[in-house]
Amino acid sequence: MRSTTCTARLIDFVDLRPVHRTCLPRWRRKLQELVKRSQWILGPEVAAFEREFADAMGAPFCVATASGTDALTLALWLAGVSTPEQEVVTTPLSAPFTALAIVRAGARVRFADIDENTLLLEPATAEPYLTRNTVAVLPVHLYGQLCDLPGWKRLASNRQLALIQDACQAHGAFYCGRALTEFSHWVAYSFYPTKNLGALGDGGALCLAREGDLEMARALRDGGRREDHVAVVPGMNSRLDELQAAYLRVALEHLPRWNERRRHLARIYDEELASIPVELIRPVKRFPERASVYHLYVVRANQREALREYLANHGVRTAIHYPVPLHLQPAFTSAGLRPGDLPVAEKATQEILSLPFGLHLRESDVRHVAALIRRFYLGPR
Ligand SMILES: Cc1ncc(COP(=O)(O)O)c(C=O)c1O
Repeated sequence: MRSTTCTARLIDFVDLRPVHRTCLPRWRRKLQELVKRSQWILGPEVAAFEREFADAMGAPFCVATASGTDALTLALWLAGVSTPEQEVVTTPLSAPFTALAIVRAGARVRFADIDENTLLLEPATAEPYLTRNTVAVLPVHLYGQLCDLPGWKRLASNRQLALIQDACQAHGAFYCGRALTEFSHWVAYSFYPTKNLGALGDGGALCLAREGDLEMARALRDGGRREDHVAVVPGMNSRLDELQAAYLRVALEHLPRWNERRRHLARIYDEELASIPVELIRPVKRFPERASVYHLYVVRANQREALREYLANHGVRTAIHYPVPLHLQPAFTSAGLRPGDLPVAEKATQEILSLPFGLHLRESDVRHVAALIRRFYLGPR
């Protein structure tokens, strides 16, 4: 294993400028229309985006929110989850916002361990953690790969649990061509700028399978108000801005092509890293039928810190998603878990490494990063 320092070409972990260069000319023209119209909250852009995003995800309905966290919270409320006696089982390997949504909804978080190969919370890994207080399950389609949705649907139906999907990293993902709302009533998305579909700030959406949820979802995101401005429930203030909706409508048109590009870049990483023994480095396992949209390209790496430093010394920025499992983060000590309680997730956080990924990369950048990794593990050849 080498450790040399040199000045080389810089490869950022993420760089959104190419995405914005593609979208901004049209968005700027739209901005002029918006200023003329001067309707900034819950106007025609949000309504049109909700229709278009639902269509693109194959969902019957969609309600836009101010963030993915809010979309998850809304989903929990719609599922009737709002009291501390109600437990929601979720993954310890995610952004804290997944678990935070459960806390904010008013329920109790119960973390379950994950699958060793995919790093996903799957029905088989979650089942031992279900208790008689469990009312809902919240799996995350981590890094853009879908969980075992038929399995989740079966488990939820057998145990009469609400199934809420965190698709905040999985815009445009379909399971064997089937929309995510075919598997459960609630699917939450985030438009945080770095997502596969990102806004110019925060944003989110909840896709709904049932028309019956629509009116309450709209009320809940708007202070609990009905259209006649009477608050029927204590909701939240979580409205996607017209400005963001207008931008997202432009970006959404590019999503299929962007996801295809991500898949292409991921294939190159796969091929270029294949000659390194799997004991040293291996991509997180993926299933072709789940057609990942590759929000991130994540490997499990032996000697991760040394590899990270070697890449950094060669101008390559990497990241870790996520360095500390949620059950060991101070915000979630109320879950009552200690080191060693969820060993698969804990081991994973010591090994995972997110390689530079996104639309700013050329194919030659990906090959260059992979060549550096080969040199780190195998020496110059
Ligand atoms: C898996 C996952 N869940 C939830 C969220 C929360 O989304 P937001 O940042 O839009 O609230 C994110 C994004 O950070 C995420 O990656």
